[in-house]
Amino acid sequence: MKHLLYLRDLNKDLIDELLESAEYFLSKKNNVSMTEQILQGIDLANIFFEPSTRTRSSFQIAARKLGSNVLNIDEEHSSRTKGETIIDTIKTLEAMGVTYFIIRHKEQGFLETVLEKIGEDSHLINAGESSVSHPTQGLLDLLTIKRHKSNFQDIKVTIVGDIKHSRVARSLAEGLSIMGTGQISLVSPNEFKPDMSHYQNADHTDDLAIGLKQADAVVALRVQKERIQELNNDIDSGHYFEAYGLTDEKIANCNDRVIVMHPGPMNRGIEISNEVADGPHSVINEQVTNGIAMRMALLSLIQRRYSSS
Ligand code: CP
Repeated sequence: MKHLLYLRDLNKDLIDELLESAEYFLSKKNNVSMTEQILQGIDLANIFFEPSTRTRSSFQIAARKLGSNVLNIDEEHSSRTKGETIIDTIKTLEAMGVTYFIIRHKEQGFLETVLEKIGEDSHLINAGESSVSHPTQGLLDLLTIKRHKSNFQDIKVTIVGDIKHSRVARSLAEGLSIMGTGQISLVSPNEFKPDMSHYQNADHTDDLAIGLKQADAVVALRVQKERIQELNNDIDSGHYFEAYGLTDEKIANCNDRVIVMHPGPMNRGIEISNEVADGPHSVINEQVTNGIAMRMALLSLIQRRYSSS
């Protein structure tokens, strides 16, 4: 685990170790002593080719809490606008001593290309790749579920929304499968039904009432309009909300102690109502806090065990 591109590359022991370490950081309110700041003197670059609020800020905060110097490379203001390739940008940063690269990109397979080209001492972490992978979101979602449920095996997790275009759903399903979750239910209209070969341990329905029945955790997903526009498609928001938007009435089908999650950014009134987003079952803000702890756990583990510096 010198790099992290896909959650499916981890095994249960490693995920358990990350969950335990993240719990430790949470117990410290994500603030550690100087001696635990394992990234002192280490330079880390956040390079995002798609917009982000949570992931970018969360990596920045996590890395800084561990003592790292963080560079945020903003494509619009970088020499990329003068024709430099991304690989040349990375090589330039490597020459300055940067060893951690946190990259988000819309193109499937791009991170693998970067991995082939980066230096031996560098670490690459996927911060969101196309509709394919968002491993740290998957890990923080696992942490959030673990904090509310006694185990992963005996629970039903329902993921609702635009699953076809969702890297969050893919990574979470990979993580849940590794942790042995018995029931993973995907709910979407058929136009958002994913290629089920990527979800071998899950079932799919277009009926939200069936999907929500007895769910212990429900994950609402944003309709990824930016990717749908690329596909020359669109949705009727009102109709979609009626059929797939989470409301108190629909949530009543779940187990009493259901938790409601959303990776953000939310589109209130489309995939989730205000009453659910801000209601007693919502753990959406906890997910954000857990994201810092999990990214601290990941960076610490890589640095402690797999880094040459
Ligand atoms: N969950 C998530 O990836 O959010 P951002 O796009 O704001 O990073």
